[in-house]
Amino acid sequence: MTMSDVPRVIEIERLAYPSTWPPSAYRKELQDNRWAHYIVLRDKQITEERSVVPQQEAEKPRKNRLFPLSLLPSRPTITVPAPELASIIGFAGLWLMVDEAHVTTIAMHPDYRRLGLGEFMLVSLIDIAYNIGAKWVTLEVRVSNYTAQNLYRKYGFREAGLRHRYYSDNQEDALIMWTDEINSPSYKQKFQDLKARLMQKLEAQ
Ligand SMILES: CC(C)(COP(=O)(O)OP(=O)(O)OC[C@H]1O[C@@H](n2cnc3c(N)ncnc32)[C@H](O)[C@@H]1OP(=O)(O)O)[C@@H](O)C(=O)NCCC(=O)NCCS
Repeated sequence: MTMSDVPRVIEIERLAYPSTWPPSAYRKELQDNRWAHYIVLRDKQITEERSVVPQQEAEKPRKNRLFPLSLLPSRPTITVPAPELASIIGFAGLWLMVDEAHVTTIAMHPDYRRLGLGEFMLVSLIDIAYNIGAKWVTLEVRVSNYTAQNLYRKYGFREAGLRHRYYSDNQEDALIMWTDEINSPSYKQKFQDLKARLMQKLEAQ
């Protein structure tokens, strides 16, 4: 993730989370936090398709199928984002704290879910955790977020406690989840097997 990706990241964040970080938080993370690692996932096809659209065409407002034309504002207020931005379909990040990698966020655009891509981002984060010398990976997740919990459990995260009223928007509790030591032979094997299976699935798609 780079600074210029932030506006699109925020768009996706708004679609994915009930409450969001202010844009300045991402900029701070990218500029000032040397322990932070943030990634974006791009749909290469979008970049290719959009890059052949002539400039004038690309600046027309998006057709909004939900509203009749008469209800749309007379001046275009929404423009098609530049191809490099529109191609971002997911993002994720972590911090390294001593030898622990803390996953801070992971979100897929709703149109791209259930394709194995959120899993691909988690795999990418765990790969980063290996590369930066983390021994464990940990995160917090809403107690009601079974979808994300399923993804984490698949990758060996286990519940290790609860943070009461952790989320300020609805006072929901957070489950604290940890992996086993990622360098243990058993975790490495599990991770490699899951990753190989995922890559096969994605290639087949
Ligand atoms: C969590 C999230 C990133 C998953 O992304 P995704 O691309 O849809 O997930 P994938 O297709 O890669 O699925 C991977 C695994 O996640 C779990 N999962 C994903 N969607 C699920 C669903 N609707 N119901 C139950 N489990 C689900 C499954 O374990 C799945 O593995 P499987 O395919 O072997 O069943 C996505 O749902 C999202 O962006 N949610 C909103 C943001 C969020 O809650 N982030 C987590 C904050 S802690």
